[in-house]
Amino acid sequence: MSILQRLERELGADRIVGPGHERLEDYSRDESPLPETYVPECAALVETTEQAAAVLRICLEDKVPVTPRGAGSGMVGGALPVRGGVVLSTEKMTAIKEIDPNDLVAVVEPGVVTGRFQEAVEAAGVFYPPDPASLEYCSIGGNAATNAGGPRAFKYGVTRDYVLGLEVALMGGEVLRCGRRTAKGVTSYDLVAGFVGTEGTFGVITEMCVKLVPKPPAAATVLGVFADVAGAGVAIEALLKHGVRPTVLEIADKASIEAIRAKSRYRFPANAGAIVLCEVDGDADAMERAMERIGMSFDELGALDVLAATEPAERRNVWEARRLISSSLKEAYRIKVNEDICVPRGRIVQMLARVDQIAADTGIPIAVFGHAGDGNLHTNLLSQEDPADPAVQKRMWAGAKQIFAAAVELGGTLSGEHGIGLTKRPYVELEQSPQLIEWQHRWKALWDPSGLLNPGKRLPERQKRCTE
Ligand code: MLT
Ligand code: ZN
Repeated sequence: MSILQRLERELGADRIVGPGHERLEDYSRDESPLPETYVPECAALVETTEQAAAVLRICLEDKVPVTPRGAGSGMVGGALPVRGGVVLSTEKMTAIKEIDPNDLVAVVEPGVVTGRFQEAVEAAGVFYPPDPASLEYCSIGGNAATNAGGPRAFKYGVTRDYVLGLEVALMGGEVLRCGRRTAKGVTSYDLVAGFVGTEGTFGVITEMCVKLVPKPPAAATVLGVFADVAGAGVAIEALLKHGVRPTVLEIADKASIEAIRAKSRYRFPANAGAIVLCEVDGDADAMERAMERIGMSFDELGALDVLAATEPAERRNVWEARRLISSSLKEAYRIKVNEDICVPRGRIVQMLARVDQIAADTGIPIAVFGHAGDGNLHTNLLSQEDPADPAVQKRMWAGAKQIFAAAVELGGTLSGEHGIGLTKRPYVELEQSPQLIEWQHRWKALWDPSGLLNPGKRLPERQKRCTE
């Protein structure tokens, strides 16, 4: 019996997207900049933990590769079935099982869209801070798999900081529950940390217990417009040095502003060369003081314009514009290789200068925006050339490699939030020692000795040891 027949028999034919089905193509791509697509043999749209476990059991028995997938919003090809086989999609596991404002926890299935979850949580008077820019369509399970960040990570931390407990379906069909629902707890090794951010290479998350926090009573947005990105970088470092800790501290350069100018309800000044976007939250008095301090710093540092927005509609306009940057650049250019390097906070200005130099040296325009307060910059290498031309792709990725190398040289890392997946896998060795890579292979082999779970991702091929 073929894998398709076995899965249809186990899950029911209506949960399997097989050959000839118009939707099968959907599982061959994600939001990564790769021109290639990878069509799986079939996709299994599981609705329960038992079904997810059954898929993993059958795939191991039949020695078929299996690639977990959330909403497909990943930017590094982590959910692409590069070796064919089965895509295990959690898009139909969408239950919010519990929101408990007293315990400050919620229990959710992985397919819940992050933005919907935030709305549900806020309706219950509590708050779930992780806010990836794709929150309108990404799923919370995918956020956990990649340890997604977002603008509010500056004050509140990333997804890992909110995952207390997990249920995970393992290769072969075992189901493991780990972690806790208490605020503290140290009785087991931190296996939760071992699953969050491993991009579906260790197991498939089927349920999450997440931490909530009290909902801030109010929030406001301060936007500083600067003549150029160097001025914006200096403003960010100055705020950080003077201990100003907003919720959000974002940057966007001229190319990013131009990409959203026509769509934005906020009217950017004509000479805007860069913006710094801050958010403050808390009680009204503290917020007022923080806004004043940020506004004054921006003025002192030569801002062309400062907007302080407290009205929800005005704030929404600014945020909508920010969230549109990535998709607008993608619409405007035929190729957009978007990266998410992260450097130590004190090195932001240096990193911005290095990106400028790389753009000049390679002749590739690079738009920069992102979570500058965390040192986490989205560098977007842009081109109007043919994405299917291998020579063009080679040149773009050579430019990306220079950015990775510069980030590592400044004490930073290849990825602050998108993950390694497929696209950054060839560059891992720029940052990690052979020893570190080998230990990760050993760790991976503990959960997936057959190597069939999300193969071809994250780790470079294992080096042959000299004794072998
Ligand atoms: C964002 O912050 O907008 C995304 O993480 C970056 C991207 O889409 O490249
Ligand atoms: Zn981002």
